[in-house]
Amino acid sequence: MKSDNNPESIDLSKLPRHVAIIMDGNGRWAKKKLKNRVEGHKKGADAVRNIVTASGNVGINILTLYAFSTENWERPRTEVKALMKLLENFFISERDNIIKNKVKLQVIGQVWRLPKNVQNLIRELTDTTKENTGLILNLAISYGGREDILSAFKKIIKKIKLDKLKPEEMNEETISSHLYTAGLADPDLLIRTGGAMRVSNFLLWQIAYSELYISKTLWPDFNKEEFLEIIEDFRLRERRFGRVSK
Ligand code: IPE
Ligand code: IPE
Ligand code: MG
Repeated sequence: MKSDNNPESIDLSKLPRHVAIIMDGNGRWAKKKLKNRVEGHKKGADAVRNIVTASGNVGINILTLYAFSTENWERPRTEVKALMKLLENFFISERDNIIKNKVKLQVIGQVWRLPKNVQNLIRELTDTTKENTGLILNLAISYGGREDILSAFKKIIKKIKLDKLKPEEMNEETISSHLYTAGLADPDLLIRTGGAMRVSNFLLWQIAYSELYISKTLWPDFNKEEFLEIIEDFRLRERRFGRVSK
């Protein structure tokens, strides 16, 4: 069945359960419009809202959004400050919507590096929504794939030292369950907007068998229609996981 971009008409079979998105291109969007980069980030926040709503409507279980990387701390101070302010505004303005739509908010990354007020908003909203049964909105903030793996190593080594874990009993699940994404299925589909052909330190362990889709669209221009087209493209793919065709 071909989707006509109406969420209700989408065929539910082979829908990705977990979609992860590298939301890239805010700066270039602003530059094209002769605006400050921060204007691009502001417009990007509107796109986030639309894609979260579309994901819930389509019936995706988990949406992971790469909002700020460990490397993004190295950007000019004014840009980092503006991004932190936007995060603050986002959690305040979206609170009611998130609760109303039964979204379960989770944050992955070095939350302790964020400004205290942002940390408090995150703590309050993740706690308030922890029993929600709708879309799991997983925001990667101050997140790095290598840091994720490093922090998992540290947790595992600590358990080994305390005799709570035996090295010879370790398996891949041991590592998965110590990552920030513990308990979440790996992404079925990884989308990157902005056209760059790289993963930029996002979910390195978790994307081993994710389907990739690179869109040239700059994130502020990314909309529900394109999102549904990409999901349709995913549904038509054959995932072999190293095996042969059925
Ligand atoms: C993505 O857009 C947003 C963040 C990384 C916070 P960019 O700011 O990287 O935009 P480009 O890649 O410079 O266009
Ligand atoms: C990746 O985009 C990080 C986010 C989208 C949050 P970047 O713009 O930071 O990545 P590079 O520099 O193009 O690899
Ligand atoms: Mg970028």
